[in-house]
Amino acid sequence: MNPTKLALASNNQNKIFEFKKILTTGFSLLTPKELGLVFEVEETESTFEGNARLKSEHLYRISRLPSIADDSGICVNALGGKPGVYSARYGKPGFTDRDRTEFILKETKGNPDRAAYYFCCIAYTDASGTKFFTGKCEGLLAEDYDESGNGFGYDPIFIYPPLAKRFSQISPEEKNKVSHRGIALREFAKFLLG
Ligand code: IMP
Repeated sequence: MNPTKLALASNNQNKIFEFKKILTTGFSLLTPKELGLVFEVEETESTFEGNARLKSEHLYRISRLPSIADDSGICVNALGGKPGVYSARYGKPGFTDRDRTEFILKETKGNPDRAAYYFCCIAYTDASGTKFFTGKCEGLLAEDYDESGNGFGYDPIFIYPPLAKRFSQISPEEKNKVSHRGIALREFAKFLLG
């Protein structure tokens, strides 16, 4: 059977890498760049679902291929669930990913409540409309930044308790087995492959 051709609504190299590692059998994933398309969508919604839908529906319109998008982020208990849907833009304009993690460490310094979770919503759009698949991964905020240079975004400050390690300290394969994105993508694969 030919692999299902899917357009992947992301320009984020880290996310693309994880998608391609997780959706291995049965899928041929094509990024906007690989399709020769310019893909830019302003994330104007206030929910993961809303933004994932904006991205998958826009890519479906311009590619005419079944399209998937992910909207994800980290929710910190001590910050009332922030940054959540605003994870990619948290803090001040011009902040790097590292600046954002340092900002969260500063905001939560001395707070004994270290609970945090990653959330991922995958939207899938084809001719019959849009469906959603979600994944959640519970963890703890570290007290400092892991300088190893591995992982992306908030991984250097996110501890996964069952392994007693940060996401930046485990292999991509280990992360994909338990991560919010891994969980959501496996649900999606189950749906599509039957
Ligand atoms: P968006 O889904 O493109 O709006 O961005 C999600 C943001 O959440 C990313 O820029 C990262 O900062 C963060 N994020 C989502 N998933 C992960 C992950 O698996 N590891 C680290 N950071 C993540």
